[in-house]
Amino acid sequence: MDEQKKVLIIGGGGREHAIAWKLAQSERVGEIICAPGNAGIEGLCRCVPVSVEDIEGLTALATKEMPDLVVVGPEVPLALGLTDSLEALGLKVFGPNKKCAQLEASKSFTKAFLARHDIPTAGYKEYTDADALRADVGIFGFPMVLKADGLAAGKGVIIAEDRAAAEAAVYELMEGRAFGAAGDKVVVEEYLHGTEASVLCFVDGSAIVPMESAQDYKRIGDGDEGPNTGGMGTYSPSLLFDEEMDMRVAEDILLKTLEGFKKDGLDFKGVLFVGIMLTDDGPKVIEFNNRFGDPETQSVLPRLKTDLYTIMEEVCEDRLSELSIEWDDALKAVTVVMASGGYPGAYENGHTIYGLDDVPEGVTVFHAGTKRGERGEILTAGGRVLGVLGVGATHEEAKATAYAGVSKISFKNAAFRNDIGTVY
Ligand code: AMP
Ligand code: GLY
Repeated sequence: MDEQKKVLIIGGGGREHAIAWKLAQSERVGEIICAPGNAGIEGLCRCVPVSVEDIEGLTALATKEMPDLVVVGPEVPLALGLTDSLEALGLKVFGPNKKCAQLEASKSFTKAFLARHDIPTAGYKEYTDADALRADVGIFGFPMVLKADGLAAGKGVIIAEDRAAAEAAVYELMEGRAFGAAGDKVVVEEYLHGTEASVLCFVDGSAIVPMESAQDYKRIGDGDEGPNTGGMGTYSPSLLFDEEMDMRVAEDILLKTLEGFKKDGLDFKGVLFVGIMLTDDGPKVIEFNNRFGDPETQSVLPRLKTDLYTIMEEVCEDRLSELSIEWDDALKAVTVVMASGGYPGAYENGHTIYGLDDVPEGVTVFHAGTKRGERGEILTAGGRVLGVLGVGATHEEAKATAYAGVSKISFKNAAFRNDIGTVY
């Protein structure tokens, strides 16, 4: 076997905990460093307190450590050009460069890409002037979908049910600048009816390879009620996909996307997360993200049989097409997010988390927003606090296991959905 490898992971959420956990199982990986990490990731590897927005600090850390591979978890450092900065040092980086990162950082860039390559998506129009947008309220009927062009931590999309709500949204996005410069340009879209699904793909210049499907639950409340969040839980594989849907997604969306990347000179290396609406007219793209989904990753990676380090290395070398990626079809996974009460609005931090060591077999707890207190205790430190993964031979078993884990864990004002794994 060749020398064991050193990996630097950027990020400090549940997704990065799952990536670190999976890479730690690889025989090829000898050392993992994570910046900034969290109280859970600390148990697996060395954490260094550099924030994901500090491109200079992260570049200095990489220069000092010279890892064999850098894995970038979140979208913000990708949009800020961390990959370009690290590649200039000669490092291998799993995560797209700044040019490709526009696929998540600019809705307008993505809509133009989709239109240019004839990839199915909602019709759209874009605006930089509030009065022009106000004059067009209802242009595609209601509900009206308004999106801040730039990154807004998953909150920049407003679905306005009627004219009054749409006018309020125009004010909020463009004049009130609720999302700052991200709302200087607004994309308006046709409203798509259907069921949403996420398809995560490994991508390099040679191939686009979908991972096993996962289903995300975006709303805060049971029965899909209440405001949108970053994701309150996932299960994998998704029960909404069958062979025919897989084929349509591959042919109508994924292959055209890879061709589009080639034609446009987009050298994408990493994970492309395709948000899809399954409509009566077939699957349509709602959005691209250019990184692993959170909490999709927590339900998908436990089912991966092929060595993750090897996949990431092949992607960096443009050799993905030569690799056959295997999944554990017999294993089902459900991840339930435990959040701070109040999330996605205001919430409190700093509550002690109890019961983390009491979870039953078959449960893995991924930390999302946690930190270690002065007495060694683990404290809440974010909106989404934990992702509790249960695995089993069936979806029902995985769900029961995940909730058995949740029932052992407590912290003040903990909030979670009771229906993760239920198909709507
Ligand atoms: P996005 O950040 O673009 O994924 O949008 C956030 C959420 O808004 C999506 O997950 C959908 O639930 C919803 N959404 C976005 N675009 C549309 C659309 N064109 N039609 C219906 N719902 C949409
Ligand atoms: N769970 C949705 C996301 O990662 O954007």
